[in-house]
Amino acid sequence: MHDLIVIGAGPGGYEAAAHAARMGKKVALIEKERLGGTCLNVGCIPAKTFLRSSKLFDECRHAAAYGVRLGSVEFDMPAVVARKNRVVQTLTKGVQGMLKRAGVEMIKGQARLVARNAVEVGGERLEAAHVLLATGSRPAVPPIPGIRSERVFDSDTVFGLDRVPERVAIIGAGYIGLEFACFFNEAGAKVDVYEMLPQIAVGSDLEISSRMHQILKRQGVEFHLSAKVKAIEGQTIHYADAEGANGSASADCILNATGRAPAVDGLGLEEVGIDFGPKGIKTSEQGKTNVGGVWACGDVTGRRMLAHAATREGIVAVNNMFGKKDRIRYHAIPAVIYTHPEVASVGRTEEELKQAGIEYKKSVVPMAVAGRFLVEHEDATGMVKVLAGARFHEILGVHAIGDASSEFIIAAAAMVETEMCVADAREIVFPHPTVSEALREAILGVH
Ligand code: NAI
Repeated sequence: MHDLIVIGAGPGGYEAAAHAARMGKKVALIEKERLGGTCLNVGCIPAKTFLRSSKLFDECRHAAAYGVRLGSVEFDMPAVVARKNRVVQTLTKGVQGMLKRAGVEMIKGQARLVARNAVEVGGERLEAAHVLLATGSRPAVPPIPGIRSERVFDSDTVFGLDRVPERVAIIGAGYIGLEFACFFNEAGAKVDVYEMLPQIAVGSDLEISSRMHQILKRQGVEFHLSAKVKAIEGQTIHYADAEGANGSASADCILNATGRAPAVDGLGLEEVGIDFGPKGIKTSEQGKTNVGGVWACGDVTGRRMLAHAATREGIVAVNNMFGKKDRIRYHAIPAVIYTHPEVASVGRTEEELKQAGIEYKKSVVPMAVAGRFLVEHEDATGMVKVLAGARFHEILGVHAIGDASSEFIIAAAAMVETEMCVADAREIVFPHPTVSEALREAILGVH
C-alpha cells in the first residue's frame, strides 16, 4: 500500500512525487516512456537548445555590427541535434538522481486506474491512498484532411529532422508555431506561418504581440493571418482566408502547431467515473477531481499548458492531499515565448482589463532605457508594459518583449502574486546595468 501513486513523470508528476517522498510518504511514480515527459524530451528543453544554436548562427552573421568579423559560418543540423540529445541526457540523469535521493519508487509501464485507490501496471495491481494523474498532453490532430501524413511534422517528430528544410510551412502561430518559425528562419529556411486568427500569439497582450509580429516579419518570417488551413495534399497546404478566398502553397516541411490535447486515453477515467472533457480532466484549484482520492495536475487538466504551472499544480495537490492547505494563483503564472526577441508576461493583459471593466493605469517604456539592453542589441527594439489598478496602483500585469525578459519576469510575477503596489515596487533595488532596469523604469512611469 502506497501513500501516493503518480502516473506520468513529466515536470508535474516527478516534482510532485519527490515533494511527497520528502514529506516522508511512500510514493511510486509510473512512466510508460521517458522520464522528464514532454518538457524534457520533446518540448521546452529540446526547443530551447535548438533556439540557442539558431540564435548563435544568426548572431555570427551579424557579428560585424559589434566589431567582430568572421569568415563563413555554417549551420550543422546533425551537430545541433547531437547537442540537444546531450543536454536532454544530462538533465534526465539529474532528475533520475533527484528522485532516487528523495526515495521515490520508479516503475516503468503503462498504468491505468482500476478503482479510485488502485492502479494496474504490467499486470500488477497497486493500491494507494491517493493517485495523482499527470499524464500530460500530445500534439493535437485537427480534422484537416491529409494532416496524418508522414510529411507533416508535429512538435514531437520535428526534433528528428536531420537537415534544415528549404521551405517550411507552419500551421498555427501559438507558442510552438512561433518558436519554430524563429528557429527555422534563423537556421536559413524560408518560413511561412498560417494562422486562422487575425493575430499571432493569441492571448498575449495585443500591443506586445503586434510588436512581435512586426519584428519577426522584418526578420523574414512571412505570416498569413486569418488563413485557415483546410487540407494538406502531399507537400501542399490549402487554406482559406477571412473573405473565403482560397490559396495553396508548397513546402518541404509542414509543421502542425495547432495546439496540444490532454493525454487521457487508456487511463481508465470512464471506468472510475472521473469527470473529463476534450479540454482535459476537471480539477479544483487544489487539484482535486470529482472522485475522492484521485487528483490531477499539468497539461492533462488543460488549465495552463506550461511546465512550471504543472509543477506548482502537482505540489499544491500533494500539499492538500496530506493535510496542508495550498492553492495555486493562476493569474500570477508567468509565461515566456522563447522567440528572438523573447516575449515574457504575467498577469492581466490590457484587453482582459478592458473586458472586465477594470480601470487601470498604464506605463510603457522602450527596453532601450536600460543601458545593458542597448549594449547588447544593435538595432533591436523591445518594450516593457506595466498595468496597475487605477485606484490603489496594485500591479495587475507586466508584459515585455526583448531578450532577457524571460529572466526578470519572475520579479514581476512576485509583484502580481503579492498584489504589490507601485509605491512599494519603486523601493526595490534593481541591479545595474541589467535589462531588468527597463521594468523599473516602467514601474516609475505609472502615475
Ligand atoms: P496554441 O493553442 O498556443 O496555438 C495554436 C494556434 O493554431 C492557434 O493560434 C490557432 O488559432 C491555430 N490554428 C488551429 N487550427 C488551425 C488551422 N486549421 N489553420 C490555421 N491555424 C490554426 O498551441 P501550440 O502553439 O501548439 O502550443 C500548445 C501548448 O504548448 C500551449 O498551451 C503552449 O502554452 C504550450 N507551449 C508553451 C511553450 C512555452 O512556454 N514557451 C512553448 C511551446 C508550447
